[in-house]
Amino acid sequence: MKLYTQALVFDAYGTLFDVHSVIALCDRKFPGQGAELSELWRTKQLEYTWLRSLGGRYEDFWSVTESALTFACRSLSLECPPETRQELMESYLHLETFPEVQATLSKLSQYKLAILSNGSPKMLAAAVKHAGLRGIFSDVISADEVKIYKSSPRVYGLVSQHLGVPDSAIAFVSSNFWDIAGAKSFGFWTCWVNRWSLPEDELGVMPDATVHDLDRLIPVLEG
Ligand code: 2OP
Repeated sequence: MKLYTQALVFDAYGTLFDVHSVIALCDRKFPGQGAELSELWRTKQLEYTWLRSLGGRYEDFWSVTESALTFACRSLSLECPPETRQELMESYLHLETFPEVQATLSKLSQYKLAILSNGSPKMLAAAVKHAGLRGIFSDVISADEVKIYKSSPRVYGLVSQHLGVPDSAIAFVSSNFWDIAGAKSFGFWTCWVNRWSLPEDELGVMPDATVHDLDRLIPVLEG
């Protein structure tokens, strides 16, 4: 671990909040297809952030998430009336956190802690509140401020502005390899939370550290 880390910055979805905690509700609405719907919903959500960023056609993460849900349902031939869509969308405001998140964050109080996410401010505020994590983070930073998504360097550039900490003193933690690749290229020290034992993407950069879940971050920081 590098010597001068002052701030730990976390990605939100997939890192702190389990996007697939919507599977149970998806399965109630569409029996037997919850897992497939959730997977496609998330995949399209991410794709749409990248495509909208490339095309300079920003829409906030709530809209992108809703468009992804609409596409995913249509693609799986699922009839999704507006009230079902609304219910599924609202589940995004109270996603479950991964089991080790709360305990791990509470042991890291010597650092400035922040979130840097594509999520809209409203979505992030709701998820943080639901998870009981208010007060833990000195800042919850949204890509919405620069109207482009990660992995644009403009998004990572928000961190030092918000925290008043130089980029070289920031450790960035994400379970999304593409996000780690963006943060590492930008200049952060990075830790990939490889919860699903995935292979590294071929993006020409590697994380500084890899852990299986968040509580393994503590020995890495101490080492
Ligand atoms: C994030 O929270 C989308 O997981 C990504 O920024």
